[in-house]
Amino acid sequence: MFDIKDLYQEVIVDHNRSPRNFGKLDDADTTLEGYNPLCGDKLTLYLKTSDGKINDIAFDGSGCAISVASASLMTDAMKGKSLHEAEALFSAFHNLVATDDDYDAAHLGKLTALAGVKDYPARVKCASLCWHTLHAALKGQNTPVKTE
Ligand code: FES
Repeated sequence: MFDIKDLYQEVIVDHNRSPRNFGKLDDADTTLEGYNPLCGDKLTLYLKTSDGKINDIAFDGSGCAISVASASLMTDAMKGKSLHEAEALFSAFHNLVATDDDYDAAHLGKLTALAGVKDYPARVKCASLCWHTLHAALKGQNTPVKTE
């Protein structure tokens, strides 16, 4: 029988195996590192913004399947978004993985594949690493972001 969890699993496996927007953005105007001290995983986020919009976004580094899939899905979802839309998506994602089941699936699209991490607190950190890094980068922070 079709199980929605299998679909979620497939999206995560696909984005981990073939991460989108992976690699350095040479003409980035903002670069910020995110670090999970629990496991030592690190990612670097590259952003190109102008006129209040994320024109391009990419990441590199090494991490577990969940952190790589989350960064891949996030960068796909954020490309072309206004800073206001990016903030709204950050809040929606936070609801998805950390707070309740009352999330906006239509707004989140493929990101809902990460809904299952809510049951595993350590995995919430994996999935959130890139998001907190992006949030801090958009706020102008220039010191590395840690999940702890
Ligand atoms: Fe390191 Fe997931 S185990 S970020």
